[in-house]
Amino acid sequence: MMRPFSMHLDFKTGELLPHDRTNIRKLSDMRGMFLDTDAELRILEKEDPIIYSFSERVLPEENGHLQLATTKISPGKVGDEYFMTKGHYHRRPDTSEVYLGLEGKGCLLIQTEKGDLESIDMGPGILAYIPPYWGHRMVNTGSTPFIFFAVYPGDAGHNYGDIERTGFAKILVERNGKPLLIDNPKWKRG
Ligand SMILES: [Fe+2]
Repeated sequence: MMRPFSMHLDFKTGELLPHDRTNIRKLSDMRGMFLDTDAELRILEKEDPIIYSFSERVLPEENGHLQLATTKISPGKVGDEYFMTKGHYHRRPDTSEVYLGLEGKGCLLIQTEKGDLESIDMGPGILAYIPPYWGHRMVNTGSTPFIFFAVYPGDAGHNYGDIERTGFAKILVERNGKPLLIDNPKWKRG
């Protein structure tokens, strides 16, 4: 039987101590996920920026356990589309998740496979509940790193493939200095 434990979560930096691994997603890991592929190529000719990183405490992938992670999304845009996570459904789709905003400004996009989409503005202290079956992606709509904490069932797993294939029904772009949610012309119904 696992022993109880505690950890330290730095609300300003999102650092989770101790954690087992940190995963880094660079722009080259997200080719084709942003709408403006010309802008993507122009950036990649010069550099390969870190779009986001996440640190995980890896716990048993079993029903009954929970997984814990913090994510930091860099500020920035590809064309006029804000940096974001890849987004995913859960491999076990009947599982939920809690996101808690810690620092910076962001927006959570949540959608069903049919493209029913909702957005929730995120910031420090905002807690979002993602019910079973909803895909989820976080977007940094601010000018500083956006940091959040996530808790989800041990056996939820990740299904990135469906989002890679369909995209999200809407995307967040900057218009007149402010975030605007627009229809994604590349959206393919799941
Ligand atoms: Fe998730």
